[in-house]
Amino acid sequence: MWWLLPSVFLVSGANALLRPDDVGRAPALGWNSWNAYNCEIDADKILTAANEVVNLGLKSLGYEYINIDDCWSVKSGRDPTTKRIIPDPDKFPNGISGVADEIHALGLKLGIYSSAGTTTCAGYPASLGYETIDAQSFAEWGVDYLKYDNCGVPDNLTDTYTYCVPDSTDGSFFPNGTCVNLTDAAPAGYNWATSTTAKRYMRMRNALLSVNRTILYSLCDWGQADVNDWGNETGNSWRMSGDITPKWSRIAEIANENSFLMNYANYYGYPDPDMLEVGNGNLTVAENRAHFALWAAMKSPLIIGTPLDTIDPTHLTILSNKPLLTFHQDPAVGRPAYPYKWGYNADWTFDPAHPAEYWSGPSPALGGTLIVMVNTEETTQTRTAFWKEVPELKELYTAGKKGFKVVDGWSGNDLGCVRDKYSLKLGAHDAGVLVVGDSC
Ligand SMILES: *[C@@H]1O[C@H](CO)[C@@H](O)[C@H](O)[C@H]1NC(C)=O
Ligand SMILES: *[C@@H]1O[C@H](CO)[C@@H](O)[C@H](O)[C@H]1NC(C)=O
Ligand SMILES: *[C@@H]1O[C@H](CO)[C@@H](O)[C@H](O)[C@H]1NC(C)=O
Ligand SMILES: *[C@@H]1O[C@H](CO)[C@@H](O)[C@H](O)[C@H]1NC(C)=O
Ligand SMILES: *[C@@H]1O[C@H](CO)[C@@H](O)[C@H](O)[C@H]1NC(C)=O
Ligand SMILES: *[C@@H]1O[C@H](CO)[C@@H](O)[C@H](O)[C@H]1NC(C)=O
Repeated sequence: MWWLLPSVFLVSGANALLRPDDVGRAPALGWNSWNAYNCEIDADKILTAANEVVNLGLKSLGYEYINIDDCWSVKSGRDPTTKRIIPDPDKFPNGISGVADEIHALGLKLGIYSSAGTTTCAGYPASLGYETIDAQSFAEWGVDYLKYDNCGVPDNLTDTYTYCVPDSTDGSFFPNGTCVNLTDAAPAGYNWATSTTAKRYMRMRNALLSVNRTILYSLCDWGQADVNDWGNETGNSWRMSGDITPKWSRIAEIANENSFLMNYANYYGYPDPDMLEVGNGNLTVAENRAHFALWAAMKSPLIIGTPLDTIDPTHLTILSNKPLLTFHQDPAVGRPAYPYKWGYNADWTFDPAHPAEYWSGPSPALGGTLIVMVNTEETTQTRTAFWKEVPELKELYTAGKKGFKVVDGWSGNDLGCVRDKYSLKLGAHDAGVLVVGDSC
């Protein structure tokens, strides 16, 4: 149970990027253009999303960041005199500041995108070497959030060693960080906070801290250079894997990886399993539910990635689930839910197709304990929460309190005083959510 020993693994993680006004304290809630539109963005689409966040009630549930992803600037280069990135005048006729004004008028915040390289992933100007100028532009425009990607890195700035990211080195990763068959693996004890990757991200952190505006810093280095070790001191969240796609196999794969990183998640610093695909591709309703429940339980940033003006009511209901959002934003508990049993597999098994199925975590705001149960199999299965197995309940249970008040987190149905255990029949790739309150 290596991850129950945080002192060994979080040597440098304790000093986070603390921000004023609680910015970044709880994981971010918002919307981003990439999974919905890729490069095809403009001010209308961004402002439509912002207005829908208000109209659909998402703002009142806490969703606040409206984030512009890649492709927002003039591709051919910076302003030759000021060296600033130029917002594309066709896509954003009133600039980024014009969009920021309208978004702020809605009571929301604006996010933007750049990369710790010379170009973004889509080939637009990026911030390496221009960190201060860009941070100043972002602050002046009224930007509140920066997603910072890892494309366009010059050859002379690559890392000396390769870090094992499980999804790109399939089968050669172990949760203890050891890679097999990796010829350029770092020597034991190597401090990844000194890698060139960490330095590229720290340069932008320093630039953001030097401007007179609080800009949440979302690192997107795809889990490379052991970012879990230096992410907390560098940004408010850090991607721990390659990109998500709207496919259950990919969602399960990332959930499996992130399940081993839960001791890194706490106030002001969260591993980020990537933006939501709820509403996208061919995910079933069950898969959308399980994706959202797992991401909320893991205290991932919850960044919606689907067009909101055409969203299916079923998907909107999932994204609006109050118990999960309450758990996710709990002001009194920073830690996420932890897997307490793998279920399909023996505990601590690394299996991209079958992540841990039983999760629990405490939440005073919820009035008790959140339990998420997932069926990772291809057919309908029963999953049972035994109170004696749930870490938050087992002490009371063994002391003789056999019953607890339970509410179904999806339907809101009061299940009354439930003794010993609760079973759910779950379809393929579905997740059940229980809110367990006082003993009774
Ligand atoms: C990250 O830093 C914050 C603030 O210093 C701290 O509260 C939190 O526990 C840290 N996270 C981890 C996983 O150590
Ligand atoms: C990397 O190469 C670029 C030219 O491609 C140069 O401007 C820069 O100074 C080099 N950086 C380092 C750290 O050597
Ligand atoms: C590592 O390399 C050995 C020898 O080539 C091979 O048998 C083994 O399957 C490899 N392991 C992984 C996890 O790729
Ligand atoms: C990490 O786990 C692998 C696979 O279980 C094992 O071979 C290796 O010895 C472990 N390394 C450390 C440092 O514990
Ligand atoms: C920083 O920004 C605040 C709010 O926008 C403003 O009141 C203050 O004067 C600024 N401080 C400096 C040093 O520019
Ligand atoms: C969804 O399914 C349809 C029909 O099987 C297929 O043509 C389409 O490519 C799928 N879309 C995605 C995003 O996987």
